[in-house]
Amino acid sequence: PIDVRVEDLLSRMTLEEKAGQMTQVNVTKLQGSSEWDAGPLNDEWLVKTFKDYHVGSVLSGGGTTPVSNEPKLWAEMTNEIQKSAIENSRLGIPIIYGVDAVHGHNNVIGATIFPHNLGLAASRNTDLIEELGASTAKSVRATGIHWNFAPVADVGRDLRWGRFYETFGEDPYLVTKMATASIIGQQGEDISSNENVAATAKHFLGYSQPLNGQDRSSGEIPLRTLREVFYPPFEDAIENGAKTVMVNSGSINGVPVHASQYLLTDVLRGEMGFEGVIVTDWEDIIRLHSQYHITDNYKDSIARSINAGVDMSMVPVGIEDYTKNLIDAVNEELIPMERFDDAVSRILTLKFELGLFENPYIDAEQTEALTLNQDRELARQAAVESLTLLENDGILPLTTDIKTILVTGPSADNIANQMGGWTIGWQGLVGTGVPPAVTFLEGIQNAVSSNTNVLFETDTAKAVEAANNADVTIVVFGEGPYAEFDGDTTTAAVPPDQTELIKSLAETETPVVGVLVAGRPLIVTDLIRDMDAFIMAYLPGTEGGNALADVLFGKENPSGKLAFSWPSDIGQLPMFYNYYPKSTANDKAYLPLYEFGYGFGYSKFNYSNLTANDEVPIDGIIKVSVDVTNSGDFAGSESIELYVNQQLSSVLTPVKKLAGFSKVYLKPKETKTVELELPVSQLAIVPGDVLGDAEKTVEEGIYTLNIDKLAKPVSVIGSEE
Ligand code: IFM
Repeated sequence: PIDVRVEDLLSRMTLEEKAGQMTQVNVTKLQGSSEWDAGPLNDEWLVKTFKDYHVGSVLSGGGTTPVSNEPKLWAEMTNEIQKSAIENSRLGIPIIYGVDAVHGHNNVIGATIFPHNLGLAASRNTDLIEELGASTAKSVRATGIHWNFAPVADVGRDLRWGRFYETFGEDPYLVTKMATASIIGQQGEDISSNENVAATAKHFLGYSQPLNGQDRSSGEIPLRTLREVFYPPFEDAIENGAKTVMVNSGSINGVPVHASQYLLTDVLRGEMGFEGVIVTDWEDIIRLHSQYHITDNYKDSIARSINAGVDMSMVPVGIEDYTKNLIDAVNEELIPMERFDDAVSRILTLKFELGLFENPYIDAEQTEALTLNQDRELARQAAVESLTLLENDGILPLTTDIKTILVTGPSADNIANQMGGWTIGWQGLVGTGVPPAVTFLEGIQNAVSSNTNVLFETDTAKAVEAANNADVTIVVFGEGPYAEFDGDTTTAAVPPDQTELIKSLAETETPVVGVLVAGRPLIVTDLIRDMDAFIMAYLPGTEGGNALADVLFGKENPSGKLAFSWPSDIGQLPMFYNYYPKSTANDKAYLPLYEFGYGFGYSKFNYSNLTANDEVPIDGIIKVSVDVTNSGDFAGSESIELYVNQQLSSVLTPVKKLAGFSKVYLKPKETKTVELELPVSQLAIVPGDVLGDAEKTVEEGIYTLNIDKLAKPVSVIGSEE
């Protein structure tokens, strides 16, 4: 059994070897350089890293690699690193290698890139997310990598934050279902299989609601909100076996999370029962003194974070300094030996579970078959299901024999914009090679009949001229790629040149279809009047172009629903649909442009016969059913969304909150009865006064269920026992 093997190994390890296991270096360290440039692995540094510092883990932060980005070379590189690690380790302990494969294996060239999470959340299709997780894991493991720093389980409540697109949106229930599906897909039944990896629920806790939207500005989130909004995705991830958790680099309520014993030990280990590995984010321990000033030296920072509950340090600054201080902290009893051993045991356990001792290498001859262009159909389906139609005056779907189409806009034929950040490079594609991609222009060109003339023009004056000779204009606009830090915005504005382009096109007689390619909703309130149809395309990845064409020409019926509230003005922020009731009237100036859950297709779906138990015990399950009819002429899928509101509660509860969803496919005129189950335990709230520390409970009383415009009251009564 693994625990016996861990105990045996641990009993034979020196303090230095243990400290090494708790250390993760960026692969650039193995080039003997702190530079990000590619260059060969350096033998001296390989030996130093594994023999002298006993390092237990390596990552390729932001896709960094000393070799080129070809997957086979990655596999050969990870094999070489693994060999060096095992041979230079006195006890033959393999390393665990990690990457951020956050939308497919986005680190290597040639692998299919899937849509980013914000778009995937619009699909409301958990089976799909699971398949994408499995596909990603397979290609990641095929390059000799065992650990994926995904999914983001943070609830995205501020679109100004540059990582908003990495979230599954603003609703805790939706984020929970999506993040868990990704974890189940990535980890499979058995992470020792060469098809699976250890997943990471990140970033614990409250990372996605920095005070002013700026990454890592202080998080000031009441305990009640933490517990009701931010805990659930992590609780569910843990219940479903997530092997690792990454810590929020920021602070919550005045305490950097890397130093919070309350959050990492009392909550994550205690309340949530997490038994896996807690890893820091990049270089974060040193920041406890260099930036946060809650200690004044490295040793105390290390002790503070390890005692708080951290097991592994990602890229500690100054490895020699770090290791020495960690060991000194143990020798001086600043860190209890028990905590030190506990951290190492968790890391070794994960390595055994991954089968790394038996199976440390990957067959590099198999790598390309498993990574190059894998699962393109799945990627297309994912992009199709995420596309969200927000306006349509009847222009869509287009016919494929339309005579002339003008395609324009800076993102129409721009792979970097279509992919977003975390694609080969950290901030996105910047001169590092191009992943497979069908651009929007290419997708449209592929879809039309030979009689159709597709014009492409990005210059505004020329585009307007071309629009005058076209039957329809498709303008693909939005943002360039970005990731953490660079991606924060204070405006979410459409850049002036793009605004001018859209306004000028609108002055022609030709209908305009706007397609937004962005990691967040931009402020388009004044622009949608200029469009005959408007589609949110998010960051759809490799198959984005084909997917858009599928929807534009009616081969597919769009079914995406927004996973966030779309503001009409940036000053409305923070904005989320599940707010607490307020004592003022709901001022029009604060209404969203589009609500959470908005999005429609080419068919109309009608709802009838909402039924549910009239009465249910507090420990029971509410069984809900509703009939859905496709009353249109297009076959298509519809996501049925169940909302709940507590009529009378001891403290404020959201005006409505998502409590279930299910996606069904309906032929024209077809009706299906959809059944949903809502465990009453899901209705638990944090009662008590403002501290928010009272025990979570379900309150007896009437709850209103809503599906579309139908409502049904359910009475929750005390248990019979
Ligand atoms: O996993 C990421 C994290 O989400 C942000 N900082 C860097 C880590 C490793 O690349």
